[in-house]
Amino acid sequence: MKKAGKTIGFVPTMGYLHEGHLSLVRHSKKKCDVTVVSIFVNPTQFSPSEDFNGYPRDLERDSKILESEGVDFLYLPSKEEIYHQNFQTYVNVEFVTKSLEGEFRPTHFRGVTTIVLILFNCVQPDFAFFGQKDAQQLAVIKQMVKDLKLRVEIVTCPIVRERDGLAMSSRNVYLSTTERKDATVLYKSLQTAKNLISSGERKVSFILSEMDDLYSSISSAQIDYIKIVEACTFEIVDELMVDKEYFVLVACRIGKTRLIDNIIISA
Ligand code: PAF
Repeated sequence: MKKAGKTIGFVPTMGYLHEGHLSLVRHSKKKCDVTVVSIFVNPTQFSPSEDFNGYPRDLERDSKILESEGVDFLYLPSKEEIYHQNFQTYVNVEFVTKSLEGEFRPTHFRGVTTIVLILFNCVQPDFAFFGQKDAQQLAVIKQMVKDLKLRVEIVTCPIVRERDGLAMSSRNVYLSTTERKDATVLYKSLQTAKNLISSGERKVSFILSEMDDLYSSISSAQIDYIKIVEACTFEIVDELMVDKEYFVLVACRIGKTRLIDNIIISA
């Protein structure tokens, strides 16, 4: 297809598809001649204490959805095909992986960059589509593409949210009815930050403490981090500067389910 001059769009996923994934598919279909979706629950991005075995899977449902979306190819590599017996090569992006998710999940990004590079090599896409919800993952992948001079353009797609603001995630299925309500605190706290910043607040410690207050009345919520970082470097900042872009990011456990969310703002 490449020889025939067609552009290849690629949406890598771990399956259990939701509207967030489908929006990536639709972006790809709009931009590219051919759309390839992969489903591979990648063991190397989960630590031994995480939910690799329990990660939701429903291949039959996913295949039907992708077929009805008009996806051209579904790539389903096996674990053995990707990580053969003597596998020993990993990709490690140095700095942007260190803070936030990298602090709480130290081996996570090495697993992500390794699988994404392998998938890029197998599929050879012209464009690859990723969701803004995993903001740090996106920054890490962009850094890898830049550093390794990969011939693929990374396309960022906006977060898709439920009506009450909860960012779509395959892990939302773990939430009980009460936890599902509690989980709206993530989006509410991001809105609090946005409102404070639009009304002129620049002091990060004040913004974070106002956000933090919202979680104190929710007994199922346990914050991993709430941070504001410079948008390109992911460096944590104390004070917001005019005309610069920042991410406000949160990672929080609601019961046993770990959720992340973010917004991009300019001060
Ligand atoms: O974002 C995800 O679903 C995964 O991290 C990815 C990019 C498919 C790699 O396994």
